[in-house]
Amino acid sequence: KFDGLADTPAMGWNSWNTFDCDVDETMIREMADAMVETGMRDAGYTYINIDDCWHGERDAAGKIQVSKAHFPSGMKALADYVHSKGLKLGIYSDAGNTTCAGRPGSRGHEYQDAQTYAEWGIDYLKYDWCDTENINPIGAYTTMRDALYKAGRPILFSICEWGDNQPWAWAKDIGHSWRATGDIYPCWDCAYGWGSWQSLGVLKILDIRKDLRLRQYAGPGHWNDYDMMEVGNGMSEAEDRSHFSLWAMLNSPLIAGNDLRNMSETTRKILTNKDIIALNQDPAGVEAMRYIDAGDLNVFLKPLANGEWAFLFLNRGDEVLNYTHDWPFNLVKDDLTGRSIDFNREIFTWRDLWTGDKGDTKRNLKLAIPPHDVVVLRLTPVK
Ligand code: DGJ
Repeated sequence: KFDGLADTPAMGWNSWNTFDCDVDETMIREMADAMVETGMRDAGYTYINIDDCWHGERDAAGKIQVSKAHFPSGMKALADYVHSKGLKLGIYSDAGNTTCAGRPGSRGHEYQDAQTYAEWGIDYLKYDWCDTENINPIGAYTTMRDALYKAGRPILFSICEWGDNQPWAWAKDIGHSWRATGDIYPCWDCAYGWGSWQSLGVLKILDIRKDLRLRQYAGPGHWNDYDMMEVGNGMSEAEDRSHFSLWAMLNSPLIAGNDLRNMSETTRKILTNKDIIALNQDPAGVEAMRYIDAGDLNVFLKPLANGEWAFLFLNRGDEVLNYTHDWPFNLVKDDLTGRSIDFNREIFTWRDLWTGDKGDTKRNLKLAIPPHDVVVLRLTPVK
């Protein structure tokens, strides 16, 4: 696969969560415009990704066509437009004969499709897993990786298998990220459906693979993908803040899934919080660990570059959570990196990345976390 395309998790926007199959070139252009006008591009979001349903049929030579009705100017022109805005264009296909929405998949056309995407100027490919009975996932994803590589244009390869085939165990050198779960749904703790066809709320995604310690598989160039974000798609402000903070801490790709053209100022401020984004884009590239798992209270820790740390205190419950964190009492040890903190010997200052409050680890931290909300602190060692 191409190196250097995802040294930190990808950031961008994708059509699926809001538009489902209803995609067209006017909307995609407007989304690119909105990415710039809202400050999202300046905050680090780069990719404009078209999900399922952009396709027409294959022509007589087997070459995939865009839907002429929805993309009359063609994909190359759209890529040129998106590039002119300083952004990149992503597209979607599927390892089977048909996509999840029944459009032509890439099976048996991998090299031809990769060549077509490269000609069009595509920068990102999300590769789905519908209609794949009897297909070997490692083989299928490896074939498309090799096809992209041969086509010669650097294209980020986003593996969309939902975890049934344990992509974390084999996809490191195949794709730049792999989905870890079924599809996200904009709710706090709901779940609909079953198996890979489940729609999962924020807490469900957080918990469903908890025992697998997926963080051990992720790192620069290869990330667990906890699915595209639902910030701005109907959850409360606290829930959106928690969702965004958690996805940042987990080093998930930060792919917005709301309509950027008419988002509220509250949503915009959440998605463009530079301090939270910096946790996701931290060069050490270490996924957060769940450090305290005590009923409504979850505490996540993320070792950052230069001896810094991020602490996220999550209130999963429906009541205000009063909690006092005694720093020295809670020694920190991260088995993955070998890093530890003994707060008896080391002092840190902290900054609250949502409120701007400041403090240090000499005093207990007294928190009153509203329902479904988070407190996120960045700790800097005092030299
Ligand atoms: C299943 C994927 O998990 C979704 O993210 C989306 O790409 C749909 N398929 C599109 O059909």
